[in-house]
Amino acid sequence: MPIRAGSYTDELVQTAKTIASPGRGILAIDESSATCGKRLASIGLDNTEPNRQAYRQLLLTTPGLGEYISGSILFEETLYQSTTDGKSFVDVMREAKIMPGIKVDKGLVPLPGSNNESWCQGLDGLASRCAEYYKQGARFAKWRTVVSIPCGPSALAVKEAAWGLARYASIAQDNGLVPIVEPEILLDGDHPIERSLEVAEQVWAEVFYYLAQNNVVFEGILLKPSMVTPGAEHKNKASPDVVAKNTLTMLRRRVPPSVPGIMFLSGGQSEVEATLNLNAMNQSPNPWHVSFSYARALQNSVLKTWQGRPENIEAAQKALLIRAKANSLAQLGRYSA
Ligand code: 13P
Repeated sequence: MPIRAGSYTDELVQTAKTIASPGRGILAIDESSATCGKRLASIGLDNTEPNRQAYRQLLLTTPGLGEYISGSILFEETLYQSTTDGKSFVDVMREAKIMPGIKVDKGLVPLPGSNNESWCQGLDGLASRCAEYYKQGARFAKWRTVVSIPCGPSALAVKEAAWGLARYASIAQDNGLVPIVEPEILLDGDHPIERSLEVAEQVWAEVFYYLAQNNVVFEGILLKPSMVTPGAEHKNKASPDVVAKNTLTMLRRRVPPSVPGIMFLSGGQSEVEATLNLNAMNQSPNPWHVSFSYARALQNSVLKTWQGRPENIEAAQKALLIRAKANSLAQLGRYSA
């Protein structure tokens, strides 16, 4: 019996390959309305629908973006929005050869019986939501759950994170969306890099165990891991070479070569740090496309430059292109600061 005889298998494999294409990565702009509000507040703007639309329009209409960006993850509101000229964002993206993606999880809530940890909601009704998003033009999805090192992590929290991701991935594939599998191991803590490596290996072992149990097609998924670094409050920072060595050790031990793309999150690293670390990982050939799916590390300078002023839009778009191009070069292992 074939592992999964779903009608979308060939398309999923093709979509994943297109997103994981040389010199390109993902622009993550799927902040929930509340989180987007925090970003807007940082430049003195109110969290209104027109302000969120204006910001996403600035990002998605950046001329030339598709050269460096193969996909962009949207929040549900954005998937149904249009430019002020009336062109749907989905059409804008298609013309730029940027695949529309959609965040499908429903956020984190406390996990009873754990060590103050959380679990990720969103499986109820997920199949019908994915089918709707596909109709609207989405071709990939994201589900972000978190694991906290200072809180343990408990065996319960890791199992719940892994199982939830696997159930989501299976449902997304069944509805034509390539699932981005994202167990974010938070940077918080004062632990050394060895501890991050140990936890990352534990988490990814369980994630792949349950992905296999759910008959997920590995050729039709993308991963969004955290880089393996010391905790943010650890006394020493690790160089890009050390981050690359530890992160690649984890990936080689845990991720089958059939997975097409590893799209890292930035997790609170600075823009340049995230680029340098990615570049270090691409200094020798890898079995997978090792790239980026950054939110903060692609948006920080854009927001600062924009300040909500129409006369700054062009400069803000240039700031986005500078970061996108730098990360594109880092994907190819050719970035120098
Ligand atoms: P950061 O790159 O800001 O960590 O965001 C990643 C993310 O999960 C958004 O999709």
